[in-house]
Amino acid sequence: TAGVLVDRYGRIARDLRVSLTDKCNLRCTYCMPAEGLPWLAGPQLLTDQEIVRLVRVAVQRLGVTEVRFTGGEPLIRPGLVGIVAAVAALTPRPRISLTTNGLGLDRLAPALRDAGLDRVNVSLDTLDATRFAALTRRDRLGDVLAGLAGAAAAGLTPVKVNSVLMRGVNDDEAPALLRFALDHGYELRFIEQMPLDAQHGWDRATMVTADEILASLAAEFPLTADPAARGAAPAETWLVDGGPARVGVIGSVTRPFCGDCDRTRLTADGQIRNCLFATEESDLRGALRAGADDTELARRWQAATVVKRAGHGIDDPTFLQPVRPMSAIGG
Ligand code: GTP
Ligand code: 5AD
Ligand code: SF4
Repeated sequence: TAGVLVDRYGRIARDLRVSLTDKCNLRCTYCMPAEGLPWLAGPQLLTDQEIVRLVRVAVQRLGVTEVRFTGGEPLIRPGLVGIVAAVAALTPRPRISLTTNGLGLDRLAPALRDAGLDRVNVSLDTLDATRFAALTRRDRLGDVLAGLAGAAAAGLTPVKVNSVLMRGVNDDEAPALLRFALDHGYELRFIEQMPLDAQHGWDRATMVTADEILASLAAEFPLTADPAARGAAPAETWLVDGGPARVGVIGSVTRPFCGDCDRTRLTADGQIRNCLFATEESDLRGALRAGADDTELARRWQAATVVKRAGHGIDDPTFLQPVRPMSAIGG
C-alpha cells in the first residue's frame, strides 16, 4: 500500500537525493581540504543492491517520483550504470537525474543514457583554466567541458550547469558563464555558497548574494520574469533576452525556499536526512541489515520525515553547521 513522506508542516517529499559516495576526484576549495577527508569505509557504504532496495521502497511505498544521484562525485562509483538501470526498471518509473563534476562524463554519458538516466547537472565555476586549477586544485577544465558536450550529445537534457561564485575568486565571471551556457544550450544556475564546507570557512559577509549575481547579469543581459511555475525547485529563473533561454539563481541563504521543500536524502552509508541542514539522521542501513522488511523501512523513513524542521535556520544566532560536510550529504 502506498503512503507518502509528509512532515508536520504538510510538505511532501517526492524528490529523493541519493549520495553514492562521499569521495571526489576534485578538491573544490569551498567544499573540502586539499588532502581530502576521512572517507567512509567500505562496509559502511550501502551496496548497489541495498541502494536499489531503498530506492524501490521510496518509489513504490512512499510516493517518490524523482531520484537524483549525487556524491561526492557519483561517476566514481563503480556500480553507477547498473544502479541507474535497476532504478529505471522500477514500476512506476521515477525520473532519474545526476549531479556531477563532469569528469569522465564524456565517456560515460552514452551508457548512462542507455541505462535510463534522463538528465544531468554539471558543476562549473569558471571558464579560465588557471582559475579552475586553483579552485578545484586539479587541472581538469578541459575534461569538464568535454563532459558537458558529451552529456548534450547523448541527449541527457536539459543539461544544467551549476556555478558557485566566490568573492575575489570568480565573482566577475557571471556574464561570461552565461554567454558560454547560451552558446552551448546549457541552462545555467548560480548558487549562493552555503555553510556546508568541511573546513567551516563559510563567511556570510563574503558570500556573493543572489542580488549581486542578478545585478552583474542584468548589466549585460536583459532579464525578465519566467512565467513557468517554479514549484519546489531551488532555482528561481529568469528569461534571457525574452527567452526561451533561462538563467537561474539558487539563493538558499538570502532567499530560502524551505517552505516549499520536497526533498528527502539518503547518504552513501544509508542514513536518511530530512534536510540538507539536519542535525539528526535516521539509520536505515542498520535496520535493513538487521532484517527489516519493506514495510518497516517505509515506516522508519516516514518517522524520519515527520520531524523535519521548518527551515535551515542559517540566520538563527544558534545556527550550527551540520557535522557532515556537503560532500558526505550529497548536496
Ligand atoms: P534540478 O533543479 O531538479 O535540476 O536540481 P537541483 O538544482 O535541485 O539539484 P543540484 O544537485 O543541481 O543542486 C543545485 C544546488 O541546489 C546545490 O548547491 C544543492 O546543494 C542545492 N540544493 C539542492 N537541494 C537543496 C535543498 O533541499 N535545500 C537547499 N538549501 N539547497 C539545495
Ligand atoms: N554551497 C553551495 N553549493 C555548493 N556546492 C558544493 N558546495 C557548496 C556549498 N557550500 C555545489 C557544487 C555542485 C552542487 C551540487 O553544489 O558546486 O554544483
Ligand atoms: Fe567534488 Fe563537488 Fe566537492 Fe567539488 S564541490 S570537491 S566537485 S564534491
